[in-house]
Amino acid sequence: MEIIREISILRARIKEARSQGKLVGFVPTMGCLHKGHLALLDKARAENGLTILSIFVNPLQFGIGEDYEEYPRHLESDAVQVKKAGGHIIFAPTVKEMYPQGHATYVDVERLTAVLCGASRPHHFRGVTTVVAKLFNIVNPDQAYFGQKDAQQALVIQRMVRDLNMNVLVHIIPTVREADGLAMSSRNSYLSPAERSAASILYKSLSQASEEIQGGQRDAAVIQAFIVEKISLELLANIDYVAVVDTEEIRPVKEISGRTLIALAVRFGKTRLIDNIIVEV
Ligand code: PAF
Repeated sequence: MEIIREISILRARIKEARSQGKLVGFVPTMGCLHKGHLALLDKARAENGLTILSIFVNPLQFGIGEDYEEYPRHLESDAVQVKKAGGHIIFAPTVKEMYPQGHATYVDVERLTAVLCGASRPHHFRGVTTVVAKLFNIVNPDQAYFGQKDAQQALVIQRMVRDLNMNVLVHIIPTVREADGLAMSSRNSYLSPAERSAASILYKSLSQASEEIQGGQRDAAVIQAFIVEKISLELLANIDYVAVVDTEEIRPVKEISGRTLIALAVRFGKTRLIDNIIVEV
């Protein structure tokens, strides 16, 4: 397992692997790896001859006053995990390598990024799509792997790939959860013990909503109110949004039918957590 910091060196390694007929699998991350990332890595490893995981805390996707500075950075322990999981390369560029002086080009997916997380984090998705497009151009992967936990990010990236005819197959991998259902996230480490315990309400409320839907409830407003009510019982929870939307345009639906995304963002103290489920009826 090798840690590479320079684009030119990474490209040379990829060229060599390709000349041996290997497929390139790519897992973009911001590091502080947990079992959710390792599930992406496992899948990438199983399906490709060369597996690359990037670790880059991307300043473009953090807003003013957000946690860019505090975002956990643990390259050494991340490298141990990637090696153990059989990953071949960690690409860990510096900010200067990714955004040299004079950088002026951005990738912006419209509409889908204006809602849900985009409403409270206005430049977030522009930062995500810009860095993912750059990483795709650098790595030129056959297949790339993202987590379902970031449902809106997954839909936005899939749309970017489609709209810009990028030659990469994007896989979305199911969310990995703690024993009490909390979605694994690098930001869970910010939670105090009381907040951590309260945060289990997120998946509980989504699961109960799913049961309501399986039981025949189809009114999106009723389901949304159901989840808001459950979460509001938790005094440490501060709801940003609970939304019931379609999985194409991320627009609110009135009636739940077909494939529907139920997504939420909730603050516990300073920590903003997201989670979601997709129901198919
Ligand atoms: O999901 C993440 O960790 C980041 O948003 C990503 C896709 C690596 C882009 O910085």
